[in-house]
Amino acid sequence: MSLVHETDYGTPLSKSEKMVTLTIDGERISVPEGTSIMRAAMEMGNQIPKLCATDSVEAFGSCRLCLIEIEGRNGTPASCTTPVADGIVVKTQTPRLKQLRKGVMELYISDHPLDCLTCSANGDCELQEQAGVVGLREVRYGYEGENHLVSKKDESNPYFTYDPSKCIVCSRCVRACEEVQGTFALTISGRGFDSRVSAGMNEPFLQSECVSCGACVQACPTATLQEKSVIEIGTPEHSKVTTCAYCGVGCTFKAEMRGDELVRMVPWKDGKANHGHSCVKGRFAYGYATHRERILKPMIRAKITDPWREVSWEEAIEYTASEFKRIQGKYGRSSIGGITSSRCTNEETYLVQKLVRAGFGNNNVDTCARVCHSPTGYGLKTTYGTSAGTQDFDSVDDSDVIFVIGANPTDGHPVFGSRMKKRLRAGARLIVADPRRIDLVKSPHVRADYHLPLKPGTNVALVTAMAHVVVTEGLIDEAFVRERGDLETFQDWAGFVSEERHSPEATEAITGVPANLVRGAARLYATGGNGAIYYGLGVTEHSQGSTTVMAIANLAMATGNIGRPGVGVNPLRGQNNVQGSCDMGSFPHEYPGYRHVSEDNVREMFEQLWGVPLDPEPGLRIPNMLDAAVDGTFKGLYVQGEDIAQSDPDTYHVTSGLAAMECVVVQDLFLNETANYAHIFLPGSSFLEKDGTFTNAERRIQRVRKVMAPKAVYADWEVTLLIAKAMGYEMDYSHPSEIMDEIAGSTPSFAGVSFDALDRKGSIQWPCNDDAPDGTPIMHIDGFVRGKGNFVITEYVGTDEKVGPRFPLLLTTGRILSQYNVGAQTRRTENSRWHEEDRLEIHPVDAEDRGVRDGDWVTLRSRAGETSLRALITDRVAPGVVYTTFHHPNTQANVITTDFSDWATNCPEYKVTAVQVAPSNGPSAWQEGYEEHSEISRRILPQAAE
Ligand code: SF4
Ligand code: SF4
Ligand code: SF4
Ligand code: FES
Repeated sequence: MSLVHETDYGTPLSKSEKMVTLTIDGERISVPEGTSIMRAAMEMGNQIPKLCATDSVEAFGSCRLCLIEIEGRNGTPASCTTPVADGIVVKTQTPRLKQLRKGVMELYISDHPLDCLTCSANGDCELQEQAGVVGLREVRYGYEGENHLVSKKDESNPYFTYDPSKCIVCSRCVRACEEVQGTFALTISGRGFDSRVSAGMNEPFLQSECVSCGACVQACPTATLQEKSVIEIGTPEHSKVTTCAYCGVGCTFKAEMRGDELVRMVPWKDGKANHGHSCVKGRFAYGYATHRERILKPMIRAKITDPWREVSWEEAIEYTASEFKRIQGKYGRSSIGGITSSRCTNEETYLVQKLVRAGFGNNNVDTCARVCHSPTGYGLKTTYGTSAGTQDFDSVDDSDVIFVIGANPTDGHPVFGSRMKKRLRAGARLIVADPRRIDLVKSPHVRADYHLPLKPGTNVALVTAMAHVVVTEGLIDEAFVRERGDLETFQDWAGFVSEERHSPEATEAITGVPANLVRGAARLYATGGNGAIYYGLGVTEHSQGSTTVMAIANLAMATGNIGRPGVGVNPLRGQNNVQGSCDMGSFPHEYPGYRHVSEDNVREMFEQLWGVPLDPEPGLRIPNMLDAAVDGTFKGLYVQGEDIAQSDPDTYHVTSGLAAMECVVVQDLFLNETANYAHIFLPGSSFLEKDGTFTNAERRIQRVRKVMAPKAVYADWEVTLLIAKAMGYEMDYSHPSEIMDEIAGSTPSFAGVSFDALDRKGSIQWPCNDDAPDGTPIMHIDGFVRGKGNFVITEYVGTDEKVGPRFPLLLTTGRILSQYNVGAQTRRTENSRWHEEDRLEIHPVDAEDRGVRDGDWVTLRSRAGETSLRALITDRVAPGVVYTTFHHPNTQANVITTDFSDWATNCPEYKVTAVQVAPSNGPSAWQEGYEEHSEISRRILPQAAE
């Protein structure tokens, strides 16, 4: 194995379709117009020395190392800033150029520490490399003059250092922060010799606006900005390309290793979802994978109040199978079930649902998508015919109007958020519908044209009011609707939305958004060119989540914003593989590929493939499993890689259900909150320890590659095989690629997918089959998957969760950049430096009414429960609305969320809870009791034999 190196072409790729032909060093080459001479030379294999140029940012032309000669032109222009032109003849190596380059390099080196042998970047430093390339052999100026060698290091960032003594002021970092990340945290301060890079207002990195994405570190050609892991471990010596295990963006990384130790994660330039960018989680927060709290031995206990007992894998698997068989013998076939994980690979998810359907003999399988994007599946399938977003991420480059509703891309999907900001800086217009003033509304060089600060729970009224404007003001794309829409449903829908009660004026009292803003936003979306809608859990996690998805789908169809680049309906999916877990048949009513279990021909095909009769009746959803457990009919659960006790709503209900079961099997990296109610704990494997695939929010299937052996012996997929075998249903696979082959053979939209194809192509967006052998970046181009687009009536039905005298405020929840979901991974990394606790955001007026000061402990109470946390007073939230994140288990925000859920899918209504806030003296008694219970439940007795 060796380190995979990517070519740095010096300047970005030109997208021009017009080709230009020139001669470089005697060879003719044709490249797109707008390409730099440097890039053209690199593409033909001629490397021009460079320092300030790198292909992730626009050329700057400051170092003067890349000089060239052009026949018939005076001087020696910089090749990075000089575009190609037809017929020019370029020389990149002449005695004059060599001499000039040496002189430039000499100046750089005379002000650089000569500690190459002990420098952390030794062997991985462009300055060192380029000194060799230009043939520098001596420095005539000596090293005694004024220099920067004693400049102080900034070590405040937990993941990288800034050592100004090594800085060559090339500004690659500054440009990366601006152009790639869009944070504008860095500047070059001072002039001439005193120039230096500074973060924020000359602050330490940690205190500045820096969001620790690492783009500057990656861009830096020297060891000035350097990963601390490289300083500690040394430079990596081999690498594999794999996929981030955090969010649904699905960034591709090079996992760079030394032996079996992960040195760093470097964003992969050829990654189709991230194009070489990353966020703080994927890039730096991988320490959880080797965290000391990982449980590496299986454990069992008879009662959940007993301490855990470490056992062998054989004993744990045997006990699991015997308990499940005992329960089914006593309570019936349907008394057990399984929960698949959206963190695990497609292959692992497929196996768990197969184990439940074929091994357990029922359809009691569900997944965490139940609590996030199940309305997306329902809503888009009903309107368009397929349960997924319509575009690839690249599509945003062609958008003219971006409408973000119920999503916070810069925190939740940061790499795509940066991409979106880049497009906005280039001129696209922006509409944000969110109760909170998210960063996108106003950030450096980005301003939303419209911020619609709607009351939580009123999405349907808002989107239908926008549709009212579109229809009544004649902004419909009639040609599109006539050709692509179902005209009957369109007529009904158009009549419905035209009713006066749906006008922005009439719905203002419901949404709280001034009518003129709604009208302006609707006109902009309908007439501003390519309109793209991006939405998140702020749309789906409502009692009308599915209705809002359909309202969005209607709006996009009515305005012709479907079926080409720059438009579409795009759910920003939460977990890395939530799309995949849904595709793989994790729902109780659907086989892989979203085919209903009652479809005879599909069921018969799986019966033949899996060799057992299958249940034609849909199984239980997670909430129904918990209800049945409380009722005494559901007794055993296999939970792979999910923490329902923390992530699902109405914690008391969840834990009561879990506590009522006779055998809960948790398979995870850590003793999570659900494990407090488990009888068997099976160690999980991290994404670094297995082969497989993840599918991101763009339906992009990408490889996950094993870079280290499973720390607890088995990868998750192997554990499922062991359980199945012990239950008497043997599944025979020796590698995850064979599981994918079975998926491809039985699921039409995956027909062309295989590990070989993925290795060849890098990634594939499903559907991939004979009709689309290279996959499908954009859906519904010539027609909707269901035929004609179905317009659905979207009556607004307010949630039953209403404010009143007891609970006068509305709580809504969300995520922040540095933490991830329930925090099981990120809390075990230095990311907690940015977010040590969940805080309650409250408007100054509401805080004053209650005598709450910034930082005070407050009690947050709903009809479901209460918790305490500290207040953060801010006008990001409107009066009457409070907001918190849910990353820390001791906050347990879900203790107070209710059991209301989406009418179609049971997706919980996390985003609307009526609450009251009152000053308190600290954590509530419940939280202290919870800590104590967790403590008892985590006690482990070592394996008897050891
Ligand atoms: S880490 Fe990212 S946000 Fe921070 S300074 Fe570097 S590029 Fe900017
Ligand atoms: S920190 Fe690195 S990238 Fe930034 S100016 Fe200095 S040498 Fe260039
Ligand atoms: S944006 Fe998402 S996929 Fe990309 S690095 Fe961050 S967490 Fe990972
Ligand atoms: S690389 Fe062209 S001027 Fe620096």
